[in-house]
Amino acid sequence: MPYHANLTATFTLPGSSLTVNRMGYGAMQLAGKDGSKMVWGPPKDVEGAISLLRDAVASGVNHIDTSDFYGPHVTNQLIRRALAPYPGDLVIVTKVGAGRGEDGSWNPALSRIELIAAVHDNLRNLGLDTLDVVNLRSMFDRYRPSEGSLEEPLTVLAELQQQGLIRHIGLSHVTPTQIAEARRIVPIVCVQNHYNLAHRADDALITDLARNGIAYVPFFPLGGFTPLQSDTLSTAASHLNATPMQVALAWLLQRSPNMLVIPGTSSITHLHENLQAATLHLPAEVLADLDAINQTPQR
Ligand SMILES: NC(=O)c1ccc[n+]([C@@H]2O[C@H](COP(=O)([O-])OP(=O)(O)OC[C@H]3O[C@@H](n4cnc5c(N)ncnc54)[C@H](OP(=O)(O)O)[C@@H]3O)[C@@H](O)[C@H]2O)c1
Repeated sequence: MPYHANLTATFTLPGSSLTVNRMGYGAMQLAGKDGSKMVWGPPKDVEGAISLLRDAVASGVNHIDTSDFYGPHVTNQLIRRALAPYPGDLVIVTKVGAGRGEDGSWNPALSRIELIAAVHDNLRNLGLDTLDVVNLRSMFDRYRPSEGSLEEPLTVLAELQQQGLIRHIGLSHVTPTQIAEARRIVPIVCVQNHYNLAHRADDALITDLARNGIAYVPFFPLGGFTPLQSDTLSTAASHLNATPMQVALAWLLQRSPNMLVIPGTSSITHLHENLQAATLHLPAEVLADLDAINQTPQR
């Protein structure tokens, strides 16, 4: 089923020639699960994961979000197996700054040595000479963006950019103060923070980034490992003859023109459902109802 016509709303990352469809794909869910460990090891169905990636790109997705710490290494290796040699318009965005313990834990990996190793791991596992976009993932607090200077790790990424290993730099899990500090060090093309219908601490930040032409890429756009559940969302979905997840994605796309969405799924059925959300228009009265779902105080 062709989705190309539905994915024409695009965004160009600032100071770049990289133009992506605003409906993208987040690859994290492709890694496996090992007991209580999240996105750990290979998926049960490796060939299914490869088919899903090929289907996404054939359907018009040209923005894939990944990291070498999903698996670890698994997601990037799947992307390479499925898609290399890569289509010229495909933008792969990866992230560094965290590492995985043997027990599956997510740990800071922000030292110079760790960042250089992470960039080289991403290059090798994706089979690339240059990474399109690397997000620096802040790790001062695992659960919420938390203040602290990012100057040292960003300086390392800027050096790697000068060496030609990275084209563009973004940030993840950051505060407005950290974004302002970062922009004094290096141009920032995108910010990836936790945001969705029920979690809107970044409302003011999104507007500010839009004013500056910087992309905002919400992680957990559907609520993350436990997808969003709300009577209001379900009612809106049935009114529009859509699914709740489609309404959640359409709401994000309508929220701001700098919003790029990267819903994660390991299911081809869900992938197709999510891609179709790019054509769903939410009328004003539905938007007003959905506003009631906001559960987050502003920052
Ligand atoms: N920067 C960061 O710190 C950070 C953190 C988390 C994630 N990320 C990135 O953000 C991307 C998106 O986040 P996410 O994957 O964690 O969460 P998400 O997109 O909010 O939700 C993923 C969950 O929703 C389910 N799902 C997807 N489509 C669905 C549909 N149409 N109907 C019902 N359920 C559906 C998935 O299960 P199925 O597999 O069964 O579809 C999965 O359980 C990730 O892939 C990753 O690239 C970044």
